[in-house]
Amino acid sequence: MVSVKFGLIALSIVLQSTLSQAKVKGKWFDSIGIIMSENEDFLVTMAQQPFIDLASNGTLATNYFGLSHVSEQNYVAILAGWLDSDIYRGDSGTPANLNITYPTILDQLLAQGYTVKQYTESYPGGCYLADMYPDDPNTALYYKRHSPFNMISKWRGTPLCESLIGTYDDFAADVANNNLPNYFWIIPNDLHNTHSADTFVDANPWTAAEGPKWLTAAKQADALFINTWDESRCDNNKYPCDGGKIDQLVATIMWGPMVPKGQNTTKRWDHYSVARTVEENWGLTPLNSTGDGNATAFDFLLSNPSLNASTTSSTPMGASGASASSSSAGSASTAKSSALAIKPTVFGATIAISLLSLSAIFL
Ligand SMILES: *[C@@H]1O[C@H](CO)[C@@H](O)[C@H](O)[C@H]1NC(C)=O
Ligand SMILES: *[C@@H]1O[C@H](CO)[C@@H](O)[C@H](O)[C@H]1NC(C)=O
Ligand SMILES: *[C@@H]1O[C@H](CO)[C@@H](O)[C@H](O)[C@H]1NC(C)=O
Ligand SMILES: *[C@@H]1O[C@H](CO)[C@@H](O)[C@H](O)[C@H]1NC(C)=O
Ligand SMILES: *[C@@H]1O[C@H](CO)[C@@H](O)[C@H](O)[C@H]1NC(C)=O
Ligand SMILES: *[C@@H]1O[C@H](CO)[C@@H](O)[C@H](O)[C@H]1NC(C)=O
Repeated sequence: MVSVKFGLIALSIVLQSTLSQAKVKGKWFDSIGIIMSENEDFLVTMAQQPFIDLASNGTLATNYFGLSHVSEQNYVAILAGWLDSDIYRGDSGTPANLNITYPTILDQLLAQGYTVKQYTESYPGGCYLADMYPDDPNTALYYKRHSPFNMISKWRGTPLCESLIGTYDDFAADVANNNLPNYFWIIPNDLHNTHSADTFVDANPWTAAEGPKWLTAAKQADALFINTWDESRCDNNKYPCDGGKIDQLVATIMWGPMVPKGQNTTKRWDHYSVARTVEENWGLTPLNSTGDGNATAFDFLLSNPSLNASTTSSTPMGASGASASSSSAGSASTAKSSALAIKPTVFGATIAISLLSLSAIFL
């Protein structure tokens, strides 16, 4: 009896502490989705990809740069805020190292009660560990080196790896359930990310089919969507960037209710800017003073429309104790956020379940 009581008290403490660290609404957005494409020059993308429709529904960055000509280092730069020159897919001369063993923005977000997820096309799920799927270079569509969440060493073989690295079908399901996470990546397969030889021939029909869904999802979730390319295909260290191409200049488009429509941003941005935007949105500390810490957030974004919506909300005060707890701008609680806040985080749920099993053992 005593142990059951102890278990229940402990459980309620865990749930309360989960509630007290509940997420706040962001300065610009409630959710951000990063769609990462591969290896293309700004000029080629502009000429060949018909996403001009998406751009006219958002902002095109005309001065945005990739950071490394090793693809996987660009993904890690967005997650960890610095350029890890040891991250490498491996070849005959250098062994593979697709292991992120240091803190990332995912740790910060999860610790604060924000939800994160990766939607991975052509991924088998189940915390798949091999470098490609199918595990055959002639047919592979999924590559670990283009799958940043799969590089987090400490998640391997854990329930977090299973639940936070999903398939692209999970994206449609989460949109349908109005359950998009606060921070997510969409990883197109190697035909749809323009990596393969016939780049836009394969990618365009997919983008045309998915683009309208991305626009709808952005409105629904008050989300900033960003589609960028990891690096330019041209590389002055290997062969010249001819015909007006600029080394590492990539196309980047953004859309969502907080993004000015039909505009260009001509300021200089790079992948660190994405990390910095997430941090500034939710008041997180930058991870590295030379990387994300030295970058500027996307300051052209409009203020979060759902913050405005909350001030005109007709939700009766006192109907929910939680909604009265915060009133400062930037952390205003709305009916929506307090409802989400009651959901335990993955960590909270895991700890709570462990405590329940513990109390069962003591019984
Ligand atoms: C973008 O907006 C325009 C109107 O400005 C609309 O005609 C078009 O269908 C939209 N694009 C997409 C992909 O939904
Ligand atoms: C910050 O980044 C630099 C390289 O840009 C790296 O040498 C250093 O170890 C990083 N520091 C931390 C704390 O991650
Ligand atoms: C990276 O992690 C894998 C799987 O855990 C391991 O087999 C490999 O040796 C690690 N590589 C390096 C360079 O640490
Ligand atoms: C934005 O930049 C593109 C590519 O350079 C250009 O074609 C387009 O006219 C620009 N749009 C605006 C509104 O300046
Ligand atoms: C900060 O970024 C600028 C370019 O945006 C660069 O010139 C400078 O060296 C960076 N500083 C550090 C400490 O990395
Ligand atoms: C929110 O309200 C403020 C003050 O009324 C206004 O300046 C701002 O443009 C609004 N933002 C949006 C996204 O509607």
